[in-house]
Amino acid sequence: MNLLPSRLCGKDIDYVMAYPTVKMVNIQDARLGVLKIALLFAITIYIAVFQLWRDGGYLATEKVSGVARFTLQQPTIDSEGNPNCDPKNANCYNDFDDPSTLPYCAQSTLPYVGNKYDCQFYENVGVLHTFESSIVVDTRITSRKENLVCQASTAVDEPGTTCPVVYNTTGEETTNYGSNIGLFTVLFDTSVTATSLGITGQSADMEGWLYVADNDAFCDDFSDARSTWGGAAKTNESPCYVMPNKTSANLDFFQLEILMNAAGSSLDYETSTGSGETFREAGVTLIMQVDYTNTLSWAGASDAIQYTYTPYLLPSTSFKMYEAEYDGVNNYRENRTLLNKHGVKLDLVQSGYLGKFSFSQLLVSLTTSLTLLAMATLVTDYVALYLLPDKEKYDEAKYEWTEDFSDMRDEERVEKRMSRQAGRSSRSASEAEGRQDSKVGQGSSLSEPDLKSRLLDSEEHRQIYGHSAGNRDTSV
Ligand SMILES: *[C@@H]1O[C@H](CO)[C@@H](O)[C@H](O)[C@H]1NC(C)=O
Ligand SMILES: *[C@@H]1O[C@H](CO)[C@@H](O)[C@H](O)[C@H]1NC(C)=O
Ligand SMILES: *[C@@H]1O[C@H](CO)[C@@H](O)[C@H](O)[C@H]1NC(C)=O
Repeated sequence: MNLLPSRLCGKDIDYVMAYPTVKMVNIQDARLGVLKIALLFAITIYIAVFQLWRDGGYLATEKVSGVARFTLQQPTIDSEGNPNCDPKNANCYNDFDDPSTLPYCAQSTLPYVGNKYDCQFYENVGVLHTFESSIVVDTRITSRKENLVCQASTAVDEPGTTCPVVYNTTGEETTNYGSNIGLFTVLFDTSVTATSLGITGQSADMEGWLYVADNDAFCDDFSDARSTWGGAAKTNESPCYVMPNKTSANLDFFQLEILMNAAGSSLDYETSTGSGETFREAGVTLIMQVDYTNTLSWAGASDAIQYTYTPYLLPSTSFKMYEAEYDGVNNYRENRTLLNKHGVKLDLVQSGYLGKFSFSQLLVSLTTSLTLLAMATLVTDYVALYLLPDKEKYDEAKYEWTEDFSDMRDEERVEKRMSRQAGRSSRSASEAEGRQDSKVGQGSSLSEPDLKSRLLDSEEHRQIYGHSAGNRDTSV
């Protein structure tokens, strides 16, 4: 091995570049053996019970994708006094309150935290805007009449005009609140699917509960508020779960104010403390998160999909949209009514995972969990080598240091040469003196003192090695 230098960074290269190889050592100490078995046992239980059984490590899961349909309905009552009848039916009537009894209506003298405006009766179509996965329910509508005062075709009169004012307001603005908007009911009809697992569900066949994160009064009020999803125990404080009201087709519907309350708010709360402007006036974005699952801790996957509605407000947002009703005579744009509508934007967000047993997922979970088992060896080794009083002995047993092989090779080489030299010198002494020119091998071989120093050198290496080996805990 003369290709390698004999020293590296001031140390014997055989020490620095030592090759560690695995050798099994039986440490005869029951404490360590028992520790390792206990760790293996605990880890196996953890993997089997928690990772596989409880958390369903054998399930393939897929994020749901879904669609939703909403309908909105004003408060109604039929001739027999049953609420929430279908307004298309003959004996179904609107069930609004007298505006003089509603604090937010200008028709009443009751105190109100925000601005009061005249209340107007609107039915569902008057306040509803439907989008792909959201609806807007108007709570406040400000309207004003406007006339077209400038358009490009009149530029003949005023050549080059760029119409700094297109419409001019005529007359007063009027602002109205919708009466009893909080009592309007929103119906949710959703369906979800996990396509690659082949699982689908429709809300008529599923069960869902409303989650109330932070509203103690709400949970206290509801006689069927539960502390867990679908649970039996009544709770008086949040968080709680409430079962929705259902139509005859088993679809869920909620009053708008109930959703606001479940989000810990109300249409009549100020947008920020002291602003004097309520959500009824400014509008708000209410996110309705629907979380689907068909897997439960310990129980695994089932066919029944269940879901949870979690309503929450987007903080510090108001919501408004403009609409124009055109009614010109000669030109439809000539006259318009501009509507500035503030309301509740109800955004439905479908989320969650559906799961199904999968053998390949089980294998994946098993192989990843099994790496945990290596922890048992790691911990036991650590205890043996660093914590127990006999750690030095364990260390000695666990890490064996061989002799320095390059020194050994050097020694052997030196010995061989010395014996060869000794043979040659005795030969040359006995053979003819005439062969003085014979210097074969002498050029490349070492003289006696050189060899001695080499030997001493390797002796010294051994000492370094021996010394270093004693300190190997720190240097390796
Ligand atoms: C409609 O607009 C035109 C032009 O702006 C105006 O002359 C007319 O009086 C308006 N009609 C009404 C009913 O306001
Ligand atoms: C807009 O209306 C105001 C008064 O309401 C009037 O003084 C002004 O001239 C009008 N502007 C145009 C471009 O007609
Ligand atoms: C269900 O309907 C009743 C009667 O209209 C109402 O008092 C209650 O708040 C509703 N429950 C939910 C969760 O909307």
